[in-house]
Amino acid sequence: MGKLQIDHSSLKLNHIYKSSCAKGLKKLPDESVDLIFTDPPYYQYRAQNVKGLKNHKDVVTEFEFDGFNSEEEYLQFLEDVLTECYRVCKEGGSGYLWCGDDFVSYINRIVEKVGFKFRKVIHWHKTNPFPAIHTRKMYANSMEMMVHFSKGSPKTWNHKPVNEMHNFIQTPICMGKERKKHKTQKPLKVCIPYIEISSNEGDIVLDPFMGSGTTAIACLKTNRKYIGYEINPEYHAIIKERIYELDNPAPPKKRAKPKV
Ligand SMILES: C[S@@+](CC[C@H](N)C(=O)[O-])C[C@H]1O[C@@H](n2cnc3c(N)ncnc32)[C@H](O)[C@@H]1O
Repeated sequence: MGKLQIDHSSLKLNHIYKSSCAKGLKKLPDESVDLIFTDPPYYQYRAQNVKGLKNHKDVVTEFEFDGFNSEEEYLQFLEDVLTECYRVCKEGGSGYLWCGDDFVSYINRIVEKVGFKFRKVIHWHKTNPFPAIHTRKMYANSMEMMVHFSKGSPKTWNHKPVNEMHNFIQTPICMGKERKKHKTQKPLKVCIPYIEISSNEGDIVLDPFMGSGTTAIACLKTNRKYIGYEINPEYHAIIKERIYELDNPAPPKKRAKPKV
């Protein structure tokens, strides 16, 4: 059988649409992206009890983008987005989707329901989470999860040294110069390795929920192309700023001359 010809003329590469992915994804051609790497809203309905902790960067409170009315509505939303992701993913493409512990097992099943093959859950241990508070009688929220799935058998698998191929990664939450004004910004360190393993230079990576643009920055740093969506104009502006900073790095600060 001849190779499927894909019309890429309607694909705007290295572009992030300032709109909802729910509508936007429908406009992408079938089998047009090599990898899906994304971090959707987590539906943190339980986080209402942690209002007092709002100012800590790692505490998930009632996010403005978590406006779902029920668990069912949230899971249906994810299913609709993942159905489109399946359609636009090339055969042999991989997908990674971040989630919290509440929904990980539902998401494993949704990826299979829409046609992907579930592969593994990857665990990120945040070494500096907000500490457990005695009176809440709960463990600190120091883990986030990422579901890995594929459309058929993965075509690209750039194996790293075996000790880097665990389904576990440990690093602090995003801090310092990398940190932007986005409450759930992922560090590049927990994104780049997986993008490198599951795609090649020049490949197209889709992120329907760009947030502060971490997937785009990871793609630019590793010579991949990206397509994305971000519904919140404030976050869209942050992405633009991050890309500008990457293209125009600030000159290194001159060290003050030692006094003699
Ligand atoms: C968990 S955050 C992503 C954070 C990102 N990984 C980062 O490192 O900055 C989810 C993002 O999805 C956006 N979002 C929510 N619903 C959306 C939709 N329907 N279409 C596009 N973006 C959406 C939110 O505004 C939010 O910035």
